[in-house]
Amino acid sequence: MRLDDDPVTNQGGSSVRNFTIEDGGFRLDGEEFRLLSGAMHYFRVHPDQWSHRLAMMRAMGLNTVETYVPWNLHEPRPGTYRRLDELDRFLEAAARADLHAIVRPGPYICAEWDNGGLPSWVTGRLRTSDPEFLAHVDRWFARLLPRVAAHQITRGGNVLMVQVENEYGSYGTDTAYLRHLADAMRGSGIDVPLFTADGPEDHMLTGGSLPGVLATATFGSDPLRAVEVLRRHRPGDPVACMELWIGWFDHWGRPRVTRDAAEAASVLEQLLEAGASVNIYMAHGGTNFGTGAGANRDLETGAYLPTVTSYDYDAPISEHGAPTEKFRLFRDVLTRYNPAPEPPPAPPVLPPATVRLTESAPLLPALPVLAGPPVVFPTPPAFEDLGLDHGLVHYRVEVPGPRESYPLVVDGLRDRAHVYVDGVRVAVLDSVNETEHQAVEVPGPATVELLVESLGRVNYGPRMGERKGVTGGIRHERQYLHGVTAQAVPLGDLPPGVPFTPGTVAAAPAFFRGEVKVDEPADTFLALPGWGHGYVWVNGFCLGRYWSVGPQRTLYVPGPLLRTGDNEIVILELDAAGDPVIELRPEPDLG
Ligand code: GLA
Repeated sequence: MRLDDDPVTNQGGSSVRNFTIEDGGFRLDGEEFRLLSGAMHYFRVHPDQWSHRLAMMRAMGLNTVETYVPWNLHEPRPGTYRRLDELDRFLEAAARADLHAIVRPGPYICAEWDNGGLPSWVTGRLRTSDPEFLAHVDRWFARLLPRVAAHQITRGGNVLMVQVENEYGSYGTDTAYLRHLADAMRGSGIDVPLFTADGPEDHMLTGGSLPGVLATATFGSDPLRAVEVLRRHRPGDPVACMELWIGWFDHWGRPRVTRDAAEAASVLEQLLEAGASVNIYMAHGGTNFGTGAGANRDLETGAYLPTVTSYDYDAPISEHGAPTEKFRLFRDVLTRYNPAPEPPPAPPVLPPATVRLTESAPLLPALPVLAGPPVVFPTPPAFEDLGLDHGLVHYRVEVPGPRESYPLVVDGLRDRAHVYVDGVRVAVLDSVNETEHQAVEVPGPATVELLVESLGRVNYGPRMGERKGVTGGIRHERQYLHGVTAQAVPLGDLPPGVPFTPGTVAAAPAFFRGEVKVDEPADTFLALPGWGHGYVWVNGFCLGRYWSVGPQRTLYVPGPLLRTGDNEIVILELDAAGDPVIELRPEPDLG
């Protein structure tokens, strides 16, 4: 196994080739080449399943796979790097599957990924040439880009092209920032074509593209208009759709979004008939494991919309790797341009089963073992002040008294708070459904506790980079309450040392634990009927969030997480536990 710090070498081992832009087209070793690409994010798929998913993509008729690189996954704390070898191994797996690759290293990636891929600790003016922000980007790129360069087709690898930023024209006009990124790429030895990707609108293309760098477009419909706009902006360039949105993602509490397969296939067909290259977004979406899911803000109302755990995306290859109707129709179109092998067999699924939860641990009494020592702050610290990316922060503050009942107001709550008054839970404040100012009536004197949970960080639009926790203040009527004790519980990884005891009488918020025997590991879909809202870990791996508001009803459990024999399932239920029996189902239910 290669470690993160091993020297970067030529990964491909095959001969050196050339990918260029000439006479208005892409050329592979001088021959005309049409990019038939599909998006799949290595960080949304269990590594043991990459080769199956890549074989499915190849069988759909694609010749290339495209992936983003999420900075926040790989640099969780400034200067601390992890899991970079996954990008190397993914690109190598793609090469073995007979696929070229496109890499989109950001630093901002959008992608419904937490904070658009930017680490929550990043400071400075995001996505600009602010020296403070660029210093972080430069340090990260110095780590990342030589690895990408080592996989280029010009060095025997399979990387054909590298993207500069992501839809920058939907954000800003700081061309110096884009130029800085492109220069960093060239300076790190990236010698394949660079490109930008923007909405096919004049203002987006003029804000987001760079002279001398290929401009591509992102869209889901009206392909001929988009092709026309690109041709007008870049008369001498090949026309490429860098994201053809053939499905969409879902938000908690909103109906599931799907796209008709035949209609999506006809858009693909029109685009290819117009001579364009394509990257199908997503060919295979996968899962927002852990705390990876991002969030949106409604661009008109500002409402906060957290993204669900599944990133199935209604893609041709489903979250669990199965071919869909869209797969068959897309294959018919794509194989007119590129012959394809038959798809590999679908991965097996476990027979249906129930899992009895037999142990529990109430959360609040366990805080001393789960969280760092309590620290007192004059005003409530945000998650970022505590060095916390995601999870829970427990705040405690005193309301002086005696005094009559007034609204206890939490300003800038992100995202949900369980409110306790003198040890009794009195409310759940939820900025998902309400405004930013949350209130509950409290007399004094009283001890108020808030257990605040973060959901995804906004990954798109002007409110990207928002802080989590109590980001304003805690007031009693108009009066700020000072002297706030705070304790942070990171989630994502299962917190170590949960003090489980036999029995499941514990009231939420609490951890619950059970075991399931498996004869032969295979995929399954975990359902929690009657449960409220929380997190699930399988053998210590966090599947992500669940929530009774839907639309997603089951969580995908990749077979490689299971083992023959006993398997541990841990649930953190924050709202209200159901019966201590959960289900493993043979089919997904995404709403
Ligand atoms: C844009 C972004 C992608 C993704 C899609 C929507 O095109 O570039 O990262 O967020 O929207 O799925």
